Amino acid sequence: MKSAKIVGLGKYLPSKRLTNFDLEKKVDTSDEWIRARTGIKERRIIEDGQGASYLAYKSSVIALKRAGMKAKDLDLIIVATITPDTQFPSTACYLQNYLKAAKACCFDVSAACAGFVYALVTAWQFIRGGLYKNVLVVGSEVLSSVTDWQDRSTCILFGDGAGAAILTPTSKNGFLSAYLGGDGSQSDVLILPGGGSRLPISKEVIDKRLHYIKMRGNELFRLAVRIMVQAAKKSLTKAKLKIEDVNLLVPHQANERIIKAVAKRLNIPLDKVYLNISRYGNMSSASSAVALCEAWEDKKISKGDIVVFDAFGGGLVWGSCIIKWI
Ligand code: ACO
Repeated sequence: MKSAKIVGLGKYLPSKRLTNFDLEKKVDTSDEWIRARTGIKERRIIEDGQGASYLAYKSSVIALKRAGMKAKDLDLIIVATITPDTQFPSTACYLQNYLKAAKACCFDVSAACAGFVYALVTAWQFIRGGLYKNVLVVGSEVLSSVTDWQDRSTCILFGDGAGAAILTPTSKNGFLSAYLGGDGSQSDVLILPGGGSRLPISKEVIDKRLHYIKMRGNELFRLAVRIMVQAAKKSLTKAKLKIEDVNLLVPHQANERIIKAVAKRLNIPLDKVYLNISRYGNMSSASSAVALCEAWEDKKISKGDIVVFDAFGGGLVWGSCIIKWI
């Protein structure tokens, strides 16, 4: 059966750094509290006037170059984002135009922090089904645009960035399994309430700061640990693999304590778990994409390795996917 493989990876992080010490000057918090509760030291912030498509473009150019592919050869572009440039057109369309990838069809995926995993699995299925060959998958976020910089319980967490992957068909077994899930009954645990069709932007929405992320962090913490453990176990079972077979776990980077709790419950040593949250914070769909790219750049992934993605986010949505690096 036809499968897919990743042939190029790229990432782009804006150069502007926002440290915990900078945040101490904005809200009642401390570097010590943020590091102890989240593991985050700093995050990146986009320049004014740029959007998710710009970050996506910068990461895609690198991924294309590493894949030895021209943008004109792309058949499909999928951008995972919850911070699109505009409600419509999609960020994928803007990216297509930046890249001059005229042949590619394009759409966005909205699955919060699980977005990159959802998009990867979608790309794999398009390739497996034979409809498209060369697929660009990007996780790109400008969470600074929806962060309430007066709310210390959320503004310490989020950052901006993008990661890209190029997928092509292979006769070998590149993608081994996937497990995606959702629970819309818990949508209010993490939500951007204002600015959509239910509550369009208005003076009242802005006065009540409803155009910013609202989160019940404590609840989410417990849900994230439980669900990420379940998701990884389900995808491993589907692939007929054991945790000992895994060479690298690439978890969503929401909180270092969540990742360590998941690793402990899965019984996987921390040296097999990729962590970069200290440098970037939570970049939603971009987190897994950037983590994968950095793990590869750091030579933590070799041919034949089993790599497990495990992500969870607002929706609720979650996803785990297992690939063999070929
Ligand atoms: N600095 C100092 N004190 C703070 C801060 C801060 N930045 N934020 C909250 N506190 C205080 C609270 O007011 C509270 O004080 P109190 O005890 O006097 O009431 C105390 O610290 C403890 O607050 P908690 O909310 O219980 O802190 P917790 O240990 O849960 O950490 C955190 C909060 C970091 C948000 C954590 O709950 C978390 O990471 N949750 C999960 C986030 C997540 O996974 N999001 C999902 C993915 S994101 C996506 O999908 C886009």
